[in-house]
Amino acid sequence: MVKKYQPISSKIPKMLHGADYNPEQWLDYPEVFEEDLRLMKLANCNVMSVGIFSWVSLEPEEGKFTFDWMDHVLDKLVESGIYVFLATPSGARPAWMSQKYPEVLITRSNRVRNLHGERHNHCYSSPVYREKVRIMNTKLAERYGNHPAVIGWHISNEYNGGYCNCHYCQENFREWLKERYGSLDRLNHAWWTKFWSHTLTDWSQVESPAPHGENSVHGMNLDWKRFITDLTMDFIENEVAPLRKVNPDIPVTTNYMETFEPLNYYKMSSILDVISWDSYPLWHSEKDDSNIAVWTALNHDMMRSFKGGKPFMLMESTPSQTNWQDVSKLKKPGMHLLSSLQAVAHGSDTIQYFQWRKSRGSSEKFHGAVVDHVGTEHTRVFCDVAKVGETLGELTEVVGTSVETEVAIIFDTENRWAINDSQGPRNMGVHYEQTVLRHYKAFWTLGIPMDVIDMDFDFSKYKVIVAPMLYMVRPGVGERIEKFVENGGTFVATYWSGIVNENDLTFLGGFPGPLRKTLGIWSEEIDGLYDWEKNSVVMSKDNALGLKGSYEAHDLCDLIHTEGAEVLATYGSDFYAGRPAITVNKLGNGKAYYVASRNKEPFYYDFFSKIVKEDNLRPVLDTNLPDGVSVQLRTDGTNDYVFLLNFSAKEQTVLLDDKQYTNIIKGNAEINSVNLAINGVAILKRPSKLTHH
Ligand code: GLA
Ligand code: ZN
Repeated sequence: MVKKYQPISSKIPKMLHGADYNPEQWLDYPEVFEEDLRLMKLANCNVMSVGIFSWVSLEPEEGKFTFDWMDHVLDKLVESGIYVFLATPSGARPAWMSQKYPEVLITRSNRVRNLHGERHNHCYSSPVYREKVRIMNTKLAERYGNHPAVIGWHISNEYNGGYCNCHYCQENFREWLKERYGSLDRLNHAWWTKFWSHTLTDWSQVESPAPHGENSVHGMNLDWKRFITDLTMDFIENEVAPLRKVNPDIPVTTNYMETFEPLNYYKMSSILDVISWDSYPLWHSEKDDSNIAVWTALNHDMMRSFKGGKPFMLMESTPSQTNWQDVSKLKKPGMHLLSSLQAVAHGSDTIQYFQWRKSRGSSEKFHGAVVDHVGTEHTRVFCDVAKVGETLGELTEVVGTSVETEVAIIFDTENRWAINDSQGPRNMGVHYEQTVLRHYKAFWTLGIPMDVIDMDFDFSKYKVIVAPMLYMVRPGVGERIEKFVENGGTFVATYWSGIVNENDLTFLGGFPGPLRKTLGIWSEEIDGLYDWEKNSVVMSKDNALGLKGSYEAHDLCDLIHTEGAEVLATYGSDFYAGRPAITVNKLGNGKAYYVASRNKEPFYYDFFSKIVKEDNLRPVLDTNLPDGVSVQLRTDGTNDYVFLLNFSAKEQTVLLDDKQYTNIIKGNAEINSVNLAINGVAILKRPSKLTHH
């Protein structure tokens, strides 16, 4: 059964379009607010995120609250048909607070406490900060929790892990460890502390990692990161409790940042009602935009996967350029609509910007915004934004539709922490993220929608699971993968998998540890290659996949022995020439592939093309896609919405696979093919093909 989700707010069951709005910066310019209301309508906006950094405007002195301006803003917005994601202002605190209560400020890992300044500069453990946030959020909830404008809570802004090392945080870390390990003996074992005589003999000796102290106990580094995520979640719960108490029906979100490494978003997502994220791809930083598009697509898919496929929000994007990237590139004609609809194609039900109106001063005054310093609607960017708004207006029927997937790729946060921390086979670049991307890209190119999950997800709904570099295997995961394969699934693993457990302790008795039986191989050694070195993977004659010739291998080559698996390819050179490089093991009704080396991009395309055929995976369109054109699908089971997105920097023609397509943007029937301009996009509707698959 294909799922149709509820809109983010029942008050406005449409695609949402809007921006971060900071009217408090303009209170001395009263004409600006009136003008903003006029312009918001012209830009086809229906939501604004308000109050993100408003603390000092809401509480200019301790205990003195000034909500009048906010009352006025919310009343007027909703009168004009604009709804609001109301923020809690905890992303930046007022100077009076830092001055009176220095404990609210971050103590860095060098144990020096920061001065007041910047944003996100606060301790999540500080009892004072928590209390101040609780008071503020209670006031906001009581005053606005039932305000007609408010359709969602925007909690703080871009939680970034904080990484405070003050005595409160140290104490919390120790408590967290006591809970996790129960005894110092167990902690010492998990951290393997006899190494270099690091054994802890009293809990008070535990200290967070520090550049001038402990930083090479990998198990400890891992636990510190886990602790930071848990502490952040605990802080968010403290933020959210007063809001939910007043009105539990208002959805809660916080804006994520890409595949931000310091926080485990998979875990954090359980406390949010809807996922939102801030996307700032480096469009036009390469000859064509396909690589940037693939990375962005992976991020969108991950955001959607966090809550099992539920539509997410694009909380921030820039309508033109940023001012913090190396080069502040303008979006070329078409790119704004294309990049916005890419988000929708992958499951977003909103397109929102940072920000509505460019600030007059301070560090973001040159960051792209809907309204530029000129202050009128007569700009290229404003017209591009209005066009996106108009297009979203045509997509009401797409709201709440799902992206149906048969394939998932594992991109696991704890695994990432551990791989990147380990001094292992290739310290000059182990490239976990790039490796995941390379595998993902093959499916993107083939037009096969994908979920991006961690190893704790339910595998049973997928036909294929791709797990690049599954270095860490947490308890039970090996067994779940085995079961998945036995039940008919296809599992693809690579070199540097099944090496450590959840504490970063190696598996004893042969790699890939708990995956050894499923994969039918034993990995004895792994060779790191210098940048100038290469090897090759030579496909065996009449191999079961039907692949021919050879592929270039680089970076990492695993030297394996088969234990029941069949050899599909062997190494072409070096002292391990002739030894297995790709294997497949049949187990129950399924298959488990092992790709022993890191190969160049063409390999993954060819390899996964075969798997797609073998496993009968359904591409969105049964056609050959031109390079750089992405195709994505949203569906409600009755109608399919096919998005064709041209990132190739060339005009393209896509041949259609039958005659039942209507072009939603243009309103006409598309018979044989669709032409896409440079940065062009088309949304085609067809009777759903999913039901009769
Ligand atoms: C982030 C922040 C915004 C703004 C933008 C600029 O996403 O959340 O407040 O600073 O970056 O790109
Ligand atoms: Zn602290």
